[in-house]
Amino acid sequence: MELSVNIDHIATLREARKEVFPDPIYGAVEAELAGADGITVHLRGDRRHIKERDLQLLKDIIKTELNLEMAATTEMTNIATSIKPHRVTLVPEAPGEITTQGGLNILQIKEDAKLFISNLKNHDVRVGVFLDPDIEQVKEAARIGAQYIEINTNEYSRSKYIKNEIIKIARVAKAARREGLTVHAGHGIDYKNIAYLLTVNEITGYSIGFAIIARAVFVGLRQAVSEMVTLIKGAR
Ligand code: PXP
Repeated sequence: MELSVNIDHIATLREARKEVFPDPIYGAVEAELAGADGITVHLRGDRRHIKERDLQLLKDIIKTELNLEMAATTEMTNIATSIKPHRVTLVPEAPGEITTQGGLNILQIKEDAKLFISNLKNHDVRVGVFLDPDIEQVKEAARIGAQYIEINTNEYSRSKYIKNEIIKIARVAKAARREGLTVHAGHGIDYKNIAYLLTVNEITGYSIGFAIIARAVFVGLRQAVSEMVTLIKGAR
C-alpha cells in the first residue's frame, strides 16, 4: 500500500508572500526521507501554488513516483507530455474553487478524455482519473483507457454517516478491480478517517495533502509524513 504526499500547500505558503521559500522541492525530499512512496502536485491553470519550475525540478530530483494532478486540457497535456511525470491524474478544475470540487464527470467529457489519455500513455505516462464513487463512471474510465482511478473521498471524509460512505466506496473499488483498474483514494483524508478506508483491500494507494501539511506546522514534515506512513503500512 502506497502513500503519495501532496505538497501543493507548501507552495501555497510560498505564494502567500510571493517568496522563494518554503520550497516544495525541499518538502518533497523530506517526505521521501520519511517513507513516502510518491509525491503529488496539482498544476492549476491559475498557477496559484505549484508552477512549471516546481514540476520540472521534482521530476529531476525526486527518487520516488511523481503524480501530476491536472485538468483534462490541451495545455496541461502538452506540459505533461514534455515533463513526463510517472503518472497523471485527471481532475476537474473550476476557476476560483478553494479545492477540487467533486470527481471528474467522464461521462460528459469522454471523447476528449480518451484522446488525452492515449496521448499521455504514448509518452509512457500512466493515467488515472479522479472519480466520485459511481460505478458508471468507473466503467467509462476503463472503456476510455484509464489505468487507475482515484476515488474521491471528500464526501466520505465529511459525512456523519461514514459507514454508508465506506460501503459505497468498497463497492466501487471492487467494480474497478473487476474492470482491471488499480484503485487509489484521496481528498480530505486525515490521520483518523483513514481507518475505515484501510479496511477496503482494493485500495492500494492514497494521495494525502492538507492533513499532513497542517500537522507538519506543529511537528515538522518528516514526522507528519512518518506518522501517516506508519498508519498506512502498519494496516496490513
Ligand atoms: N486527490 C485529488 C484529486 C485532489 O484534488 C486533492 C486536493 O488537492 C487531493 C487528493 C488531496 O486532498 P487533501 O489535500 O484534502 O488531502
